[in-house]
Amino acid sequence: MQRNVTTAIATALGCLVAANPLPAADTPRAHSEDASAMTIERVSWGTVDGHPVDLYTLDNGRGLRMKVTNYGGIVVALECPDRDGRMADVVLGFDRLEDYLAGHPYFGALIGRYGNRIAAGRFVLDEREYRLATNNAPGGRPCALHGGLKGFDKVVWRAEPLREPDRIGLRLRHTSPDGDEGYPGRLDVTVHYWLTTDNTWRITYEATTDRPTPVNLTQHSYFNLAGHASGPILGHVLQIHADRFTPVDAGLIPTGELRPVDGTPMDFRRPTPIGARIDADDEQIRFGGGYDHNWVLNGPAGTLRLAAVVEEPTTGRRMEVWTTEPGLQFYSGNFLDGSNIGKGRTPYGHRTGFCLETQHFPDSPNHPEFPSTILRPGEVYRSQTEYRFRTVGP
Ligand code: BGC
Repeated sequence: MQRNVTTAIATALGCLVAANPLPAADTPRAHSEDASAMTIERVSWGTVDGHPVDLYTLDNGRGLRMKVTNYGGIVVALECPDRDGRMADVVLGFDRLEDYLAGHPYFGALIGRYGNRIAAGRFVLDEREYRLATNNAPGGRPCALHGGLKGFDKVVWRAEPLREPDRIGLRLRHTSPDGDEGYPGRLDVTVHYWLTTDNTWRITYEATTDRPTPVNLTQHSYFNLAGHASGPILGHVLQIHADRFTPVDAGLIPTGELRPVDGTPMDFRRPTPIGARIDADDEQIRFGGGYDHNWVLNGPAGTLRLAAVVEEPTTGRRMEVWTTEPGLQFYSGNFLDGSNIGKGRTPYGHRTGFCLETQHFPDSPNHPEFPSTILRPGEVYRSQTEYRFRTVGP
């Protein structure tokens, strides 16, 4: 049930309110050059565990509009223009909170404490072993995936809308208690989603802890730049700025090797259609059922640099991924099978969305040779990622 309760907040922010929580995509819209056209609205979206859940709509007034809920920090919809100015919603998701609660493969969600896999759901830290729930088992090999049974994708975050001269945003905060999902220490997390006036979705992550703990936060949106209901993403042209990747075993756990992409289907150093080699006779492709791997990004981690570019030729939509992270998981939606019925009753079939998850390498707590994911008291975890939406001509 959706109910407009936004007036107070909207007035405080000096923005307009429209009771229109899920507008139809693909409608042309005039874009104002006036930054005061940036709006944030909030509607009540239901409750989870007795906590109120809201749906926010952030509109930068320049052609980027996001619907985001404080349940799981989930991005429910993201509209951007094609080369002719036609808007489409380019992320997979659901119309109703109930659909998210019924279970789904992390559509649009914030992921923590540890994005990606930890082998056998165990790790040793400062000579003590920690055990996590094993909630995933590719190739029959159990692992801990994306933060556990109730990861950050399933909690209600504290949300606060923000407005600055050249951007609007949402601050999301969550406190994960000591022992949460088996992880040590109390972790205080703050995530900002910003929409800037140049059509960038900027995400900043910060966290502090009172005991050493692994932290690897990411965002799990599934993109389809032709529109969320447009079918397979195989025609998208992808470039990844990485000379190496982390090959995996049958359980999708890195072997520890940093393997050159040269001469493999993992070589996206030049723009290449996702579908060009996705069914290649290759062990890594077989293990992932397509692409489900971590690339070792070129350039120094800790500085914001271009990680990947995706272009969708029929619409001219282009998305750049910039990040401070050392790695990028490219997942080609291989496990989607039509059983998730998404927005507008769209069954999301095999490979109809892709994820580009900026992150540290999978299973880092068990790989001392990988960049460390351990956060210690007194330190601040900081990470930034940007998805920049542009268009290219025919
Ligand atoms: C993983 C996939 C997994 C998907 C949804 C991705 O980040 O790489 O293996 O199936 O998340 O759970």
